[in-house]
This record gives sequence, C-alpha cells and structure tokens, in this order.
Amino acid sequence: MAEKEIRFSIKRQDGENGAPYWEAFNMPYSPGHNVVSALMYLREHPVNAEGKKVRPVAWDCNCMEEVCGACAMLVNGVPRQGCAALIDALEQPIVLEPLTKFPVVRDLLIDRKKMFDALLAVKAWVPMGGSWDIHRHAPLISPGEQSIRYLFSRCMTCGCCMEACPQFGIDSKFIGPAPLGQVSLHNSHPTGGFFKEGRLHAIMGAGGITDCGNAQNCVKVCPKEIPLTDAIASLGRQTTVQWLRDLFVK
Ligand code: SF4
Ligand code: SF4
Ligand code: FES
Repeated sequence: MAEKEIRFSIKRQDGENGAPYWEAFNMPYSPGHNVVSALMYLREHPVNAEGKKVRPVAWDCNCMEEVCGACAMLVNGVPRQGCAALIDALEQPIVLEPLTKFPVVRDLLIDRKKMFDALLAVKAWVPMGGSWDIHRHAPLISPGEQSIRYLFSRCMTCGCCMEACPQFGIDSKFIGPAPLGQVSLHNSHPTGGFFKEGRLHAIMGAGGITDCGNAQNCVKVCPKEIPLTDAIASLGRQTTVQWLRDLFVK
C-alpha cells in the first residue's frame, strides 16, 4: 500500500521579475501539520514530486501562532495565515499561491511595504514624546471602549483584507481596509486623537475612504475578525464632519 502523503501544488517565482510557474511537491503524512510546518519540511527536503532536487520554496513566517501576519498567502484560493491552516482540514492537493495584491519577492514571499507606508501616512500610532505630561492629563478609558479598541489593536498587518478588497491592488491608489481600521483605532484614542485631523485629511483625498466600494469582502476574510466595515462607516461620518469644519470653521 502506498504511503499516505500530503500533496502540494505551489505557485513559484524565481525572483521579482521572474515568470511564475507551478511545481508539485509530496511529503509523507504525519498528523498535526499546518501549511507552514509542512513548508519547513519541504525546505529540509527540496525535492519536487518528480523526484528532482529544486531550489527550496521561499515564504515568510515568524510567530507560528497567527500573531505576526507574515505567513499570509492564498491557501486553496483563500487569503489566510499559513500557520493557522491545518493540513488535516484542507482539500488536497493543497494549492499555495502568494497574495496577488502585493509584489512577489520570490515564491510565496511578498513585499507588504505598501501597507506599512500607508500606516506611516496616516500616523497610525499614539504620540509618546513628553508622554508623562500628556498622559497625566489624559482621560480614563472605560472598559467598554477598551474592548472595542482591543479588537482593532489585534491587526497584524497580514494583508488578507487588502487581498480580498476589489478596490485595492498593486497599482491602485486606494489605501485599503487595514490602514483605515488603524485610523479609526488611533482617532478614538484620547492621546492618539491629537493627530485626528491629519489622519482624516490623509484619507479624504484620492485613494482615501471614498474609494471604498463597500463590498465588505475585507471583513469576511480578516483572521482576527476585526470589524473593518464599522471602522469605515465611522470614518465616513468623521470625514464629513471634518469637511464641514474645513469649510466653515477655518
Ligand atoms: S468594504 Fe469593500 S471596498 Fe471597502 S475596504 Fe472593505 S473590501 Fe474594500
Ligand atoms: S485587518 Fe485583519 S485581515 Fe486586515 S491586515 Fe489586519 S489582521 Fe489582517
Ligand atoms: S507565522 Fe506569524 S501569523 Fe503565521
């Protein structure tokens, strides 16, 4: 009887400008594997299904517990974290592809810089300079508010929501759902709110919130179940108020 195997079909690319191609891999079955742990096995045994030794498959990972966001990829066509994709729950051959909305560096390894640049553009942080003076007078945050913000704070910048968003792409200007979620989080923070006006202006122009077509794909694929569309609705209201302020107050 043939040994039970785990079968993969992996979309590969030798470099940033290389042409993509498909390669099949098989490995011996053992229980408890996830996609990343299986890729680790294939890295140690870089032999394709035809028995030919090949360049080991490249991918990214770090935490192995769905926290760092690095291992996002398409698993059987679905954007998700490889480390959380249990082999026993997947149909075979397991088809692995890099996310399509970010440039491919090599194989399953992508460059998510566009998303991090967007976080910089919207100042997605709480200012800490002179923090003692600031926080000494900052209002307390109620447990109810904390629990809502906690949901947004779990964003791991994995890019799954960006992949699912029909408005976001390598060449599109749209900032995308994950940075919008972080604008909402940091605007709602008593100290982070000091940058609120600048954040709103950053999402009021081309590529900003009005580019969202409200398809709601983003919220369906987020591994952290972050209520992105609630954030987008709230930011829609905030940008309208800001627009009126810009018109009449200044
Ligand atoms: S609601 Fe739709 S268009 Fe808007 S960010 Fe989410 S997926 Fe993209
Ligand atoms: S909002 Fe969710 S899907 Fe989008 S980057 Fe953050 S964790 Fe990933
Ligand atoms: S390795 Fe960090 S999310 Fe998968």
